[in-house]
Amino acid sequence: MTLLDWNPEDFSEIPYAFYSDEDIYRRELKQVFQGEAWNFLALECEIPDAGDYKTATVGEIPIIVVRDEAGTVNAMVNRCAHRGNLVCIDEAGNTERLTCVYHNWTYDLRGNLASIAFERGIRGKGGMAADFDRSRHGLQRLRVETCNGLVFGTFSDDVPPLADYLGPEMRANIDRVLGREMEILGKFQHGLDGNWKLYIENVRDTYHATLLHSFFPTFGLNRLSMKGGIELSDGGLHHLTYSIGATDRPESQYNARDLRAVKDGYALNAPELLQTWPEYACGTTLAIQSIFPNFSVQQVSNVVTVRLLLPKGPDRSVLIWWILGAVEDTAEQRAMRLRQSNLIGPGGYIAMEDGAVVGWVRRGVAGAEDRNSVLAMGGRGVERESDSRCNELSVRGFWQGWHGLMRESAA
Ligand code: FES
Ligand SMILES: [Fe+2]
Repeated sequence: MTLLDWNPEDFSEIPYAFYSDEDIYRRELKQVFQGEAWNFLALECEIPDAGDYKTATVGEIPIIVVRDEAGTVNAMVNRCAHRGNLVCIDEAGNTERLTCVYHNWTYDLRGNLASIAFERGIRGKGGMAADFDRSRHGLQRLRVETCNGLVFGTFSDDVPPLADYLGPEMRANIDRVLGREMEILGKFQHGLDGNWKLYIENVRDTYHATLLHSFFPTFGLNRLSMKGGIELSDGGLHHLTYSIGATDRPESQYNARDLRAVKDGYALNAPELLQTWPEYACGTTLAIQSIFPNFSVQQVSNVVTVRLLLPKGPDRSVLIWWILGAVEDTAEQRAMRLRQSNLIGPGGYIAMEDGAVVGWVRRGVAGAEDRNSVLAMGGRGVERESDSRCNELSVRGFWQGWHGLMRESAA
């Protein structure tokens, strides 16, 4: 049996080889990223006006996301139909036409080939072959749909519409967090020293939250004993974990006299770092959501972020963060969001620790291709929900979804 034939009884043991195997990685690019999945491409607010475009990536494939004259968002592969050059070199801009610099083939904002330099040659000599049909040589298009300002694309004709793919539970949280006019307050991008699935597992892993990230329980920001739970979408593809603070929580979370840190003689020099305001009527203080395969929506107190993880080979990946605020925020609220975002960004306590663990696991499993990890916290099944976050069911759910897509190619 090869790794590609892996067909376990449950998803509570995962071969370490899946984090380094070249064949598995190549198959993921085809079966997961180009397969029956919706991939996050952009925020609509990044391309608000007609002609605005930005580049994106699906798996390793370069993509152009552009808003056309009618206001519709289109996505095409960023690959000239002539000889494969990148059509957009810049990360973002505004244009009426997309022109490849190599030989000036030019496309409209829907990816149709509009003109070719020297199409009829020069002084009657040269020119394209008589049977050349421009209409057959546009940019390769993706299906595109949006949800609360998030733009997704897919290469698949078979994947269900985005709303069905996300399902009602996941849509409800996206709407709760992003269902108002949002703007970008900042953006980070950094490398991760390991396979993309190590980081996605981490995003879905509620078990480690208060153990690895000890700053949070130390200062009373998150405890596994808080009210909360885990929800999975149908089939385990996506997940949401959340916790709900005390409804009588005062505006600043950093004021409890009995905090472990205070008893131990520790205090923050800048307590305003933890200053928050009760933004959500439901009282949710933390909500981490993953959308299969590589996207996440996150609300930690008043910090709203979306994150996209790009695979860059079997043992490397790149993480992109967008820090968001609501357009209607007051200046004070915006300042609070920005201050709090230091808690979770790559220079803060959360992302730095998660990133380090990705690299350490990669090093730890070197030479252990014939051994398995264990995901048995909370049982071995992939239930739709749990009221305990001391559970690895959403990580098992990821592997169930991944396995489903990877299997299809074996058929
Ligand atoms: S490769 Fe784009 S015009 Fe030739
Ligand atoms: Fe973490």
